[in-house]
Parts: sequence; C-alpha cells; structure tokens
Amino acid sequence: MTTVTAEIAFYARALKAPRIAETARALAERAREEGWEHERYLAAVLDAEVAARQTHGGDNRVRAARFPQVKTLDDFDFSFQRSVKRELVAHLAQLDFLCERKNVILLGPPGTGKTHLSIALGVAAARKGYRVAFASAQEWVTRLSEAKRYGKLSEELMRLARIPLVIVDEVGYIPFDPEAASLFFSLISSRYERSSIIVNSNKTFSAWTEIFGDPVAVSALVDRLVHHAEIITLKGESYRLKGKRKEVLDVAEG
Ligand SMILES: Nc1ncnc2c1ncn2[C@@H]1O[C@H](COP(=O)(O)OP(=O)(O)OP(=O)(O)O)[C@@H](O)[C@H]1O
Ligand SMILES: [Mg+2]
Repeated sequence: MTTVTAEIAFYARALKAPRIAETARALAERAREEGWEHERYLAAVLDAEVAARQTHGGDNRVRAARFPQVKTLDDFDFSFQRSVKRELVAHLAQLDFLCERKNVILLGPPGTGKTHLSIALGVAAARKGYRVAFASAQEWVTRLSEAKRYGKLSEELMRLARIPLVIVDEVGYIPFDPEAASLFFSLISSRYERSSIIVNSNKTFSAWTEIFGDPVAVSALVDRLVHHAEIITLKGESYRLKGKRKEVLDVAEG
C-alpha cells in the first residue's frame, strides 16, 4: 500500500466513510485515464459515499415506516387495475406532492390496490430520504389516545407533523366512537398544509358520516384533506379474487 493510499484509508475510517477508501483508487485510475480535473475526482469519490449511505438509509427508513409488506409500483399490474393511470401514479412517485405538502386519497372497494399503491409511494419516499409512518386508522387512533392518556397528545401530534409522510390505511372498516373521531380529526388538522398524508378508504366521502358520526366534523375533516390533494378512485374487482371468482361465489352461496 502506498503512503497516500494508507492515508486515505486512515481518513476514511476517521470519517466513518468506508466507501471513500474502497472507491478512491479505482476512481483515481479512471480520472488519470480520462484526464479529470481534481474537483471532478473529489466529487466522484464523495458521490460514491453519499450513494452508498442513501441506499443504506433508505432500507432503515423503509423498516422504520412499518409497512405491513414492502410493495412497489413495479409489482402493480396496471392492466388489471384500469381505473388508475400509470402515468399519474408514476408522477406521484416523483414525490413533488411531499414538497408541496399535498395529500393523496385512495378510494375504492376491497382488493383494488389502495394499500398496495400507498405502500409503493411510501417506499419510494423512504428510499428518497423522507421519513414515512404507516398504520391503519385504528392504529393511529390508538396511538393518539395513548398519548392523550399520558397528557402528551400535542407533543405526539407535533412529532408526527415532522414526519413528511404519514399513511393512514383502512379508514372506514371500523366505525369510530366520538373520542376516536376527534383524535382522527386532530391528526388531519395538525398536518393540514404542513405535511402530507395518504388516506385509504373503502367508502366514498359521502359515506364518511357513517364512520365518524358527526356530519359537521366530517365536512371539516374532508375539507382539510381534499383542499390540496390528488384523489384517486379505484374501481373493479378485487385482485384477491382474481381468477377465483367462481369458486369463491360457489362457496359463498353454499
Ligand atoms: N393491480 C394490482 N397488481 C398487482 N397486485 C395487486 C393489484 N391490486 C391489488 N394487488 C394485490 O392484491 C392484494 C390486495 O390489494 P390491496 O391490499 O392493495 O387492496 P386494498 O384496496 O387495500 O383492499 P382493502 O380495502 O381490502 O384493504 C395485495 O396483495 C396487493 O398487492
Ligand atoms: Mg387495504
């Protein structure tokens, strides 16, 4: 090992940047062959380190988001789900909506891909460096009601508002009592125009009164959610029943 290589290895260790030591030499050879400026060489070495960290950090953020499974847009069959345009979802996956603090609302019957698409957008965000938190509406409410019990509701909401993307799955399967509805409302209103939220529901907004009870609160809630939002309405058969329709129906009918 030359003195300079040893020095680089030493500095890379001191900086906890192992990728610098790994790439410095190969990139130096390339730089000599291709006559790079010194600055360009330095940028290439730093870029290798940053890229390695982002991939690593991305995996951590995907884990921290607590997705029920990891799904991506590549796994999504747009020829099965024709009510959503691939271009629209691909555009959302560029994540401008996070910088603009906009929301995404996915509405549709069971098995049409709401959870899948929201996870795919969440995974894209996590891999691009954003913190993401995923849970069902029920789980969010439980979390907030626990915070409230310890007198820490506003702290918890402030903490959540610092997470650029919160995903709320399964709004509508279980009706909320007034306390839960009010906690849900505080979650939405605390993020309004501050940070993005993705909400999935099997019910159209007009049916949300059945979930939350109070029509006045529902209209205030929906108002805030949709003010800056992309609303995607999914239609069609459940993907879970794909190719099974007949057997399932036979079983259901006995
Ligand atoms: N178009 C699709 N291409 C590939 N897989 C799909 C598609 N739509 C749904 N799936 C898969 O089918 C299953 C059900 O989809 P998903 O969980 O997204 O439905 P959902 O709309 O959230 O339904 P629910 O309202 O019951 O929660 C998942 O495993 C998902 O990955
Ligand atoms: Mg779902």
